[in-house]
Amino acid sequence: MNHIKRGVLALCLLASGGAFAADAVSLTIDTAKPGAVINKDIYGQFAEHLGTGIYEGIWVGPKSKIPNTKGWRNDVVGALKAMHVPLVRWPGGCFADEYHWKDGIGAREKRAVKVNTNWGGVEESNAVGTHEFFDLVEILGADAYVNGNLGTGNAQEMSEWIEYMTSDSKSTLANLRRKNGRDKPFKVAYFAVGNEAWGCGGNMSPDYYADLYRNTETFLRAPKQYRPKMLASGGNDNDTTWTETLSRRLKDKTAGISFHYYTIPTDKWEGKGAATGFKENEWFSTLSNTLRMDDHIARNVAVLDKNDPEKKIGFMVDEWGTWYDVEKGTNAGFLFQQNTLRDAVVAALNFNIFHAHADRVRMTNIAQMVNVLQSMIITDKDKMVLTPTYHAYEMYVPFQGATSLPLTLQNNPKYTLDGKSIPEISASAARGADGKLYLALVNTNPGQAADVALNIPGQTIKAVKGRVLTAEAMDAHNSFTTPQAIKPAPFSAAAGADGKLTVKVPAKAVIVVAVE
Ligand code: AHR
Repeated sequence: MNHIKRGVLALCLLASGGAFAADAVSLTIDTAKPGAVINKDIYGQFAEHLGTGIYEGIWVGPKSKIPNTKGWRNDVVGALKAMHVPLVRWPGGCFADEYHWKDGIGAREKRAVKVNTNWGGVEESNAVGTHEFFDLVEILGADAYVNGNLGTGNAQEMSEWIEYMTSDSKSTLANLRRKNGRDKPFKVAYFAVGNEAWGCGGNMSPDYYADLYRNTETFLRAPKQYRPKMLASGGNDNDTTWTETLSRRLKDKTAGISFHYYTIPTDKWEGKGAATGFKENEWFSTLSNTLRMDDHIARNVAVLDKNDPEKKIGFMVDEWGTWYDVEKGTNAGFLFQQNTLRDAVVAALNFNIFHAHADRVRMTNIAQMVNVLQSMIITDKDKMVLTPTYHAYEMYVPFQGATSLPLTLQNNPKYTLDGKSIPEISASAARGADGKLYLALVNTNPGQAADVALNIPGQTIKAVKGRVLTAEAMDAHNSFTTPQAIKPAPFSAAAGADGKLTVKVPAKAVIVVAVE
């Protein structure tokens, strides 16, 4: 049984009978068969020119009274650094499909003012452009993922952008970069040719896009040490036709095919469900819909395994997260929503799924970093709060670059509501870069704790130590008046006199512990 199947099993096994007490879930970690390395970029972020996702949210400009470094606000950037953001995708999203990079270079006061046609029809000052974005990622110590424009843009425009960013020659474009304040080339880790080509990126067919990609990629030349990993924009939801076509037609021309899947509680774009004040049926449907990510990845990976058995092509989930109705009284085009304990559980379930597929899923980007959809941080003028999703990310930091370990769950109870069920416990284990063994546990049931008995063949477990994120209310969240309403608390458990260790996972909780 390969590692992926084992990981999927860990989420799905509802088998009866464990080696432990009748009502305990039995969790066995196989440390002898390490799986794939969990690429740190699985914990990537997405910052689009959308609402206050960039302007106000992170960028305030160098002249702002809000303390900032090169225009990026210190409080937000400090919090993002503390959660070890490894990668930021920019400038979109649908915004990227109409973005012309030359609008965003040179003196800021002279830059073209455009209309952000996708997001609220507001004026786009282009104050944040290529140089400002690289200031941000360099301050964060993160890598850059730049998304090119294949909607209203073309091969020439993208080829010139790549030359501007990466050339160390004395070409006119490289010298223009120097004139604009940057001597050395920028380091672009990933460059995507287009976004959502099936929709806002141009309503294309997979074959038409594949032709355009092949044409464009031919001209994306960069010095070897600065050459980004080139990405193709793939499909979404249940559709595997993009992965099928692109993995066949773009072999050796792409490092990855992207994929988008959003969790919508009601499954309807009209009336998606509220971010707070929801009932248990929407807690359940949100988590149940999130678990579909596992099927989506498995189906696309099966296609990749057929067309790319050498595993050269990664499966990059470069947009995911919860998408609710916008908060009342806010601009519908700004996609602003609150963020609760439910979102933290959604994030953790997705992390566990990504880890289980780490040999193919090499990068993901939650949508989005600040103030938009499932964000890490919410701001209002000079104030800022950290969301439960932020805490899920910082709790999972030890998994960045860790080596995944197969695990099996037995006797995993079902969490059942209105005749539908999902597994109660989701888990993931990995050997961290520091040599320690880390375990993440999620209890999807909002009404009942679960006992999880740990077993590592050949090893005596003495204790587990780490943190837990939970709260009384399903929609517990932080606000500007109660910014610390929900945050992680210390968590530990020790082996009993019989040498066995059972972790009591509270209802609706996320736990990350080091196993000693
Ligand atoms: O994240 C918001 C939007 O969702 C992105 O701009 C687009 O790519 C997707 O449809």
